[in-house]
Order: sequence, then C-alpha cells, then structure tokens
Amino acid sequence: MTTHTAVADRLSPFGTTIFSEMTRLAIEHDAINLSQGFPDFDGPDFIKQAAIKAMGDGENQYARSFGVPALTRALSDHWSRETGFEIDDTLSVTVTSGCTEAIAATTLGILNPGDEVVVFQPYYDSYRACLSMAGAIPRFVTLHPPANSAETCVESPFSFDESELRAAFTNRTRAILLNTPHNPTGKVFSREELELIAALCLSHDAIAITDEVYEHLVYEPETSPHVRLATIDGMQDRTVTLSSLGKSFSLTGWKIGWAIAPPHLTAAVRSAHQFLTFATSTPFQHAAAVAIRQGDDYIRSLVADYRRRRDLLADGLAEIGFKVFKPAGSYFILADHTSFGSADDVGFCRRLIEDQKVAGIPPSAFYEDPSLGSSLVRFAFCKRDDTLRAALERMRSLRS
Ligand SMILES: Cc1ncc(COP(=O)(O)O)c(C=O)c1O
Repeated sequence: MTTHTAVADRLSPFGTTIFSEMTRLAIEHDAINLSQGFPDFDGPDFIKQAAIKAMGDGENQYARSFGVPALTRALSDHWSRETGFEIDDTLSVTVTSGCTEAIAATTLGILNPGDEVVVFQPYYDSYRACLSMAGAIPRFVTLHPPANSAETCVESPFSFDESELRAAFTNRTRAILLNTPHNPTGKVFSREELELIAALCLSHDAIAITDEVYEHLVYEPETSPHVRLATIDGMQDRTVTLSSLGKSFSLTGWKIGWAIAPPHLTAAVRSAHQFLTFATSTPFQHAAAVAIRQGDDYIRSLVADYRRRRDLLADGLAEIGFKVFKPAGSYFILADHTSFGSADDVGFCRRLIEDQKVAGIPPSAFYEDPSLGSSLVRFAFCKRDDTLRAALERMRSLRS
C-alpha cells in the first residue's frame, strides 16, 4: 500500500491549514485566544433549559429531515416579521447542522461541475472547499481596505470595484456566494451594493446564496443596517438565505443552522441535505425554536455588549500602533500590523503568540492570492471585557 496522501484531489488543496499550527502554538504558549470566533462566555440559560426540557420530554429520536415543525415555523414567522414575505415553512425552510452544513447542502444541491460562482475574497474558508467538492469554478472579486489614510482607526468599509464585479459574471455564472455582515472584514454590504449584485444576478439568471450568520450583529444600524439580499426587487425567487443560531445566541457548539429559499431552490438544498446528515439534533432544534421566538431581548443586550467590546478592542489596538479597520458588523476586527516590522501575517501571528502570548488569525488564508492579506491580522472580540483588556495589556509590549 502506498503511503502518500489519501486525501481526494478536490480536497487536498485545503488539507492542513495554518489555523492548526496557530492553535497548537497558542496552546503551547498559553496565549489569550482572540483567534477563533467563539465566545469565552456561555449562552443564555432560558435556551439551555429548553434543551434540557426537550430531552426530558422524550424529544430524542430522528427529527423530520428538514426540521422539527416547532423550529421551521418559528423560522418562517421570524422571516415574515423581518422581510414582510409570507412563506410556507414546509416548502421553504431546511434546518441543517449549522450554517456550515447549509453552505455544503446548498452548493452541492444546486451546482453542477463547471458552473461558475462569484465569490468575494477574503472569504469564509468553507466556501472554497464546498465549491471544489461541487466541482464549481470560483470567480473572485476582491474587497479592498479603505484607501491610504493617516487615521489609525478607519471607520469606512472595505469596498470592491464595480468593474471587477461585472467582469466576474459570465455566461457560465450559476450563482454568487455572498456573506453580509462579512467575516473577516466586518463589512455590512450597503443597499446600493446589493442592488448592483441583484441587477447582475437578474441579467445573468444567476442564483444568490447569502450567508447571514452575523445578521443581528450590526453596530451602526442607522448608517449601515443589515439588508437582506432576498428583499431586493426580483431576488426573492432566486435567493437562498443561510444563517444559524450560533453567533446570535452565543451557542456556537450547538450547530443548528438553516436555509430559507423559494420551493424550487429548497428542493435542491434538501436533495443534498438528506444525504449529508438527513436531520440534525432533535432536542437542540426544539430549544432553537424557543430562542428564535423569545430571543429579542437577549440579542439586544448582546449587541450592546459587542459594540462596547468592539470599541474597546479597536481603540486599544489603535493606541498600540495598529491601523484598525473598525467593523460595522460581525465580531471580528481586521488590523494592519505592518508598523511592527513583520514580513507577513503568518510571521506576525507566530511572533504575537510567542512573544506577547496573544493569538490572532493570519487572514492570507482567506484569499486566493495570499499576498492580498499579508499586511493584516484578524482579532475576534466575542470575548469578555477582561479577556480583551488582558490581551491589549500583553500587546502593549509590541511598541517597545
Ligand atoms: C461567515 C460564516 N459562515 C458560516 C459560519 C459557520 O456557522 P456555523 O457554526 O453555524 O456552522 C461561520 C463561523 O465562523 C462564519 O463566520
């Protein structure tokens, strides 16, 4: 038997990521972890109690493949409330194992080999791998940091060239895969940008797959509200909206996600979902229904906490000497590290773990051309105030 890699060609380019090395180093150096996007505090008690109750009530066997009725109805009611569109949950909602499975089920269920898909970079890493598993061809459009400015804390969002976006759409384009609010830039796509994307989808008869896991985590709702692509004229019938429970309710380990789409696209999503997982955890779905129906107050206070933490981290990083791109959404901050003299993001993150004992993420792994991300570092602020303060305190030594 040969001993070289057993990983299939379509996955081998994504084999070992830099994240494994960073995690290993962070553990070895007992670093404060601002790298991974999960809270260092627990989710709300009323949702955990609902899961315990569901288990006690015997909700422990396979669920209906596309989701338990309590949750699909809670999601369709929430959707109507947010968009004004009435949908039939039995035809338009699919509950998945986190948004990660929703991304896989949607791409595998809809795309044929050779289909082109427009993707913004930097991108969430599973997009690239899912497109490869589906045999689809990504066409990248770059989100650029705000142009040179002397400010150390820049509030204007990352932006793309309209001509680059137009050129990415061809007669082979089957879909665009969008993420708003965006990881890792924190960009919240504006209505004008979404209208341009919608016009291109309509003129190329393309589907939109929109990952909205940070839908509630927006900090400037007056100037940068979260707009759902599905609500732009003409898009309701060609958009698959993906999201999950994890970020909005600080329960990232529960892995309850969903896809909301018109019936013909839902049928495609379900065609893959039934063979990926068939159904996801029954008691957690029941608890997710309670979260969606009763969670508004929790989300309001979480957003207030995250706004304060964003400001704390952004101001602190700027004071230390980073150039900070202040996010309007998500729970990540991108910052330029080049004033500290490292050659690239991987070298900077390695040094930050070893010397300052703080872990961040090198974002070059989120770009097709890694050099586009080499001046940047990503920090997560879904952490307690004390954790952020301690990390900033340790990073002050970067200045010396
Ligand atoms: C943009 C984006 N999409 C999807 C996910 C995964 O969501 P889930 O944990 O629900 O699978 C993440 C998690 O970090 C994310 O940042």
